[in-house]
Amino acid sequence: MADTTETPTGEALEQKLSELLEVERFEPPEEFRERALLKDPSVYEEAERDWKGWWSRQAKELLDWFEEPTEVLDDSDPPFYKWFADGKINASYNALDRHVDAGKGDKVAFHWRGEEGEERDVTYADLLRDVQRFANALKDLGVQKGDVVGIYVPMIPEVVVAMLACARIGAPHNVVFGGFSATSVRERMEFSEAKALVTVDGARRKGKTAPIKQQVDEHMGDLATLEHIIVIQSTGAGCDMQDGRDVWYHEIVEQAEDECPPEPLDAEHPLYILYTSGSTAKPKGILHTTGGYLTGVAATHKYVFDLKPDEDVYWCAADVGWVTGHSYIVYGPLLNGATSVMWEGAPDYPSRDVWWDIVEHFKVNILYCAPTAIRAFMKWGADLPAKHDLSSLRLLGTVGEPINPKAWLWYHLVIGGSRCPVVDTWWQTETGAIMITPLPGITTTKPGSATKPFPGTTADVVDEEGKPIERGQGLLVIRRPWPSMLRTLYKEEDRFIETYFDKFGRDTYFVGDAARKDEDGYFWIIGRVDDVVNVSGHRLSTAEVESAIVSHRKVAESAVIGQSDEDTGQSICAFVTLEGSEDEGDETIEAEIRDRVADRIGKFARPKRIIWAGDLPKTRSGKIMRRLLRDIAEGRELGDVTTLRDPAVMEQLEGKVKELQEQES
Ligand code: WT7
Repeated sequence: MADTTETPTGEALEQKLSELLEVERFEPPEEFRERALLKDPSVYEEAERDWKGWWSRQAKELLDWFEEPTEVLDDSDPPFYKWFADGKINASYNALDRHVDAGKGDKVAFHWRGEEGEERDVTYADLLRDVQRFANALKDLGVQKGDVVGIYVPMIPEVVVAMLACARIGAPHNVVFGGFSATSVRERMEFSEAKALVTVDGARRKGKTAPIKQQVDEHMGDLATLEHIIVIQSTGAGCDMQDGRDVWYHEIVEQAEDECPPEPLDAEHPLYILYTSGSTAKPKGILHTTGGYLTGVAATHKYVFDLKPDEDVYWCAADVGWVTGHSYIVYGPLLNGATSVMWEGAPDYPSRDVWWDIVEHFKVNILYCAPTAIRAFMKWGADLPAKHDLSSLRLLGTVGEPINPKAWLWYHLVIGGSRCPVVDTWWQTETGAIMITPLPGITTTKPGSATKPFPGTTADVVDEEGKPIERGQGLLVIRRPWPSMLRTLYKEEDRFIETYFDKFGRDTYFVGDAARKDEDGYFWIIGRVDDVVNVSGHRLSTAEVESAIVSHRKVAESAVIGQSDEDTGQSICAFVTLEGSEDEGDETIEAEIRDRVADRIGKFARPKRIIWAGDLPKTRSGKIMRRLLRDIAEGRELGDVTTLRDPAVMEQLEGKVKELQEQES
């Protein structure tokens, strides 16, 4: 039954929300707690007493090894850690074969729904059949253990097949989010020296078709390392096929042998590379390996989401192209034998209640999404979810950015009918798996706080010198290695050390986030301290956007900052100086700049605001002072200006920003 009587809308909702804003703590609902997998807080002490032993137990309980590891952690050469190093394992075997062997072949792995409402149920046996054939097809093309395979595919079941086929033969995959432009794909294929790329003819985007293969062709032509492009016929949009390089997925799969035994791989064999934005314009290739990564995602997926694989329908509404999709759409759920929902489209197509229709239709029990989506739903109104029966939901999760208490409460009240615990999970592409999170049957939650490190995991807040700050704001660090941690930056070992292990030494992982610890030891994540911006949970580098902007021939210089945004968390604000004597650009240049960014990175990176600047604030040595730009964009008092070369620049800019903000409001 829909809980419409319990879930207020309109003014009653506003009233209820403002009452709840006074409530600081939420206990796990009794009904939930009683049935939770973990309900005894002693799990934290138990894990702490022998953290290596605890992780080792997870590895053995949750995974099947061809050869069980005898060694847990090799920490003889920090920060190059090895987990379960003498074990042999295969990710696709653990995700598929062992469930099918246990008689669960007919179980649905994914209830897929396409943009136009069509549905496809994909079982564990279906996946195993397709993965084996595609793995053989890859081998037939000459892809070998250790070769990198790129994947640029939208949210269709074949993307899972492609990832697991790579894992089966030990070819690390390199997935690129479908929202990235073909230029970004090329760059990532080049950096990783990918031998093959799996893509689609076209992708559906809110009723239209994007010609993906054609865009790929326009940018991939002369890349010598890329020997094959494998095209999945997804939309039927026609595309050119280059002789000797391009093959149709359905044709090579048709010709391939049925059986492909899983390769017994070393635990430290690379599972995948995933590029993410850093402080410079060049994206970082985060490298994850097999045994430790699988241990981390299996354990967190099971216990953070309290997964009961024989009862639950689970839905992570992210895209497979981000780490959330890797860990909590593909690997975590499949390792745990879950039934998931996979949704091809956007939250507002064909209508703004499509998510709630999906929850009702598939009787979703566990929903995991980003705060940005929740803020959009709040804006669209509680009437839309109220039209649907959401009573199947029993647990809600969020990820990707700080969640403001009001959005947390709205989620809890309107979507969760006040009966679902909310787990705000903090982690990163680098950490591979959830690190700071409530355990839903144990933890008292506080809206806006990710609460405490997962059992066996550490986190700390320190000052600039690395000294712990017991209460108050500082820098977030992780003190101990954890199984799913990144192993290096692909082909950039020095940068790996420099980025994460220079600031506080080889044994302390520098996160790049500011955080605060409260009187109960709860963590409150504040945001990035480096030049990384988080737009709708999408991670972007200011340097990357700047370099796209200055590629416009009329642009002399640009400084990009992240600005607080009530919808998207942060938004991109670009200060732009034009060549020559031109002071102000016009709408045409503005549009051209946005197109440049869309073309170089992706549409989601386009600046929301462009501010024409006669000059940019710089230090005497010529460094742009982004900190001051952030201050004026947020309407704050300017911080320390003593190193500023020309104070007049700031006065001029402040006037401009004020003018723009008045226009906007
Ligand atoms: C950055 C990592 C984790 C998968 C999606 C993003 C921010 C992530 C939270 C949270 C506050 C969060 C951090 C982090 N972030 N989760 N629950 N509360 N901030 O992965 O693209 O690697 O981004 O996202 O700033 O460093 P990512």
